[in-house]
Amino acid sequence: MNSSRPKLRLAPSLLSADFAALGESIAAAERGGADAFHLDVMDGHFVPNISFGPALVKAVRRRTRLPLDIHLMVSEPRRYLAAFRDAGGDTLVVHLEVEAEAAHLVRAIHELGAASGIAVRPDTPVERTLPLLAEVDQVMVMGVMPGFSGQRFRPDALARIRWVREQLDKAGSAADISVDGGVTPETGRDSAAAGATFFVCGSSVFDSGSVEENLGQLRASVEEGAGRAVR
Ligand code: DX5
Ligand code: ZN
Repeated sequence: MNSSRPKLRLAPSLLSADFAALGESIAAAERGGADAFHLDVMDGHFVPNISFGPALVKAVRRRTRLPLDIHLMVSEPRRYLAAFRDAGGDTLVVHLEVEAEAAHLVRAIHELGAASGIAVRPDTPVERTLPLLAEVDQVMVMGVMPGFSGQRFRPDALARIRWVREQLDKAGSAADISVDGGVTPETGRDSAAAGATFFVCGSSVFDSGSVEENLGQLRASVEEGAGRAVR
C-alpha cells in the first residue's frame, strides 16, 4: 500500500436528507462517524435537476465543523466559486466537462484558499483527467450520471478508479479519489479495493434505517475493501 494514500473518509450527501430537518440529519451523520458532508449543487442546465445554492451551504456550515465538499454540477462554475467558498465550502469540485480549460478553474479554486476537485462523468474518458492530476486535491469518479440520487452504481466505474489510482501512486500523489453515486456497502467495498479513498453516500445513508448504523456498515465495508484494519 502506498504510504501517501489518504485515510478513508465517508461523506454523506445531503441531497438525500430531509431538507426540512437538515440539522437533525447532520447531527445523526456526525454521530455515525461522518468525515465530511457532500453538497450537490445543480443548475437545471448542466444536469436536468435543480437543487440548492450558497444559502443552503451557509446554513449547513453553521451546523457542523466537518469539511464541506461542494459538487458543482453547473454550466458556469467560474461565476460561483467565490460565493460557495464564502458560504463555507472547503473543497470545490468542478466537472471536467464544463470548460476546455479546467486547469484555470482549479487555479481559481486554489486562489480562493479552497481545496480543489475535478469530477468526471461516466461518459467522459477518465484519461482526460491526466493533465490535472498533479494539481488537484481530489479526483471524483462518478458512479452514476450526475443529476439524481438513488441511481444504481455503474460497475465500469471500478476500472476508472483503478486507472486513477495507478496514476496517483506513480506520481506519489496524496490526492483523494472520491466515488460519487450508487455507493452502498457492496459498491463502496469494491471501490475501496480499486483505490478510492473518499466515499460519497446519499440514499444508502438517509433513505431507510438508522443513519448511524448505515454509516457504520459503510465504514466496515470500505475498510474491508481497502484491506485495512478497522480503526
Ligand atoms: C448525483 C450526486 C450524488 C448523489 C449521490 O448526481 O452527485 O452526490 O447525491 O446519491 P446516491 O448515493 O444515492 O447515489
Ligand atoms: Zn455529488
